[in-house]
Amino acid sequence: MMKRLLSGHLIPAVGIGTWRARNPKESVYTALAEAGYRHVDTAAEYGVQNENIKHLSVGVICLACIKETGDENRAIRNVLKCPNSQDFNLNVRQNPFVNICLHTLNRDGASRPPKSGDVLDFDMEGVWKEMEKLVKDKLVRDIGICDFTLKKLDKLLSFAEIIKPSVCQMEMHPGWRNDKILEACKKNGIHVTAYSPLGSQGNGRDLIHDPVVERVARKLNKSPGQVLVRWAIQRGTSTIPKSNNLDRIKENIHVFQWEIPEQDFQALCIIQDQKRVLDGEELFVNKTDGPFKSVADVWDHED
Ligand SMILES: NC(=O)c1ccc[n+]([C@@H]2O[C@H](COP(=O)([O-])OP(=O)(O)OC[C@H]3O[C@@H](n4cnc5c(N)ncnc54)[C@H](OP(=O)(O)O)[C@@H]3O)[C@@H](O)[C@H]2O)c1
Repeated sequence: MMKRLLSGHLIPAVGIGTWRARNPKESVYTALAEAGYRHVDTAAEYGVQNENIKHLSVGVICLACIKETGDENRAIRNVLKCPNSQDFNLNVRQNPFVNICLHTLNRDGASRPPKSGDVLDFDMEGVWKEMEKLVKDKLVRDIGICDFTLKKLDKLLSFAEIIKPSVCQMEMHPGWRNDKILEACKKNGIHVTAYSPLGSQGNGRDLIHDPVVERVARKLNKSPGQVLVRWAIQRGTSTIPKSNNLDRIKENIHVFQWEIPEQDFQALCIIQDQKRVLDGEELFVNKTDGPFKSVADVWDHED
C-alpha cells in the first residue's frame, strides 16, 4: 500500500526501521529481498547508511535492490535524516532515490546533551533553502521534517513557499498519539510517518502487552505487533517498525488484507497515560548549562 505525498510521489505505508538494529544489513536485506518492503528508514547518526562502514552499507543494499527491480515505481524509498547540508550531499550522492528529513534536534558538532555555546542558533530557513536546491537539482525526490513542534512547523511554512515538506516524521503509537501535530500536518497536506510504532525498544513503552492491544489482537487473530502497525496505517500515517528478528520483520508488513473494526480502532485511540517515550531528556536536556533546560524546552512547551 502506498500513501500519496504533496509532491505527487508515493511512499510505501510500511518501512523498516534501522535504529539500533543489531545487524542492519541483514534486516534490510531480508525486508527488501524477502518480505516485500520498499521503504527503509535510516539516519546519519544510526551509522548504517555510509560507506565508512567497511562492508556493504545499507545505502548500497538499497541501490542494489533498486537496480534489480529496475522499475521506478517499485523502487525503494530510503528515508534519511541528516543534521546538516554536508551530510545531505554525502548521502544523496550514494543513493539518488533518497528522501531526506530535516531533524531539528540533532545539531552538528554538539555534545550530548549540548552545552550553551555548543549549538548555534538554528538557521531553519537557510537549511531548508539548501534542501529545496537538492530537489530542484533532482538529487532527492522529497524533503521532509522530523521531531517538529507546531511552533517550528508554523515557522517553516512561513518561508517554505516553493517546496513544502512532503513528510513529517514523529513518534506516534497508541501510548503517544500526538494528535496535535497529526492534525496540523493533515491541514497542510503533509504526510506523517509514525516512528516507534510499537512503543520503541529498550526502556520503551510495552504496548505489545497492553491489555487493549492484546484483546484486539486475539479477536482478529493477529499479533499485537501487527495490530499496532495496522493502527498507524488506519490513522492515515505510514510507519517504520524495527525488528532484529527476521520472522517479526516479515510479520510486521502483513497488515494490508484486513482492518481493525471501527470500535476496536477507537478503543486503541483512547489508551490512557499518553506520553512520549523518546522525550529527548537524555540526549538534549542540560539542566544547568544548555539551550534546552527541560524536556518542555525541547518540545517548545506544547505537550
Ligand atoms: N526520527 C527519529 O528521530 C526517530 C526516532 C526513533 C525511531 N525512529 C525510526 O523508527 C524506527 C522504529 O522505532 P524504534 O526502533 O524506536 O521501535 P519500534 O519499532 O516501536 O519497536 C521496536 C521493538 O519492538 C520489538 N518488535 C518488533 N516487531 C515486533 C513484533 N511483531 N512483536 C513483538 N515485538 C516486536 C523489537 O524487538 P525485536 O527486535 O526483538 O523484534 C524492538 O524491541 C527506528 O528503528 C528508526 O528507524 C526515528
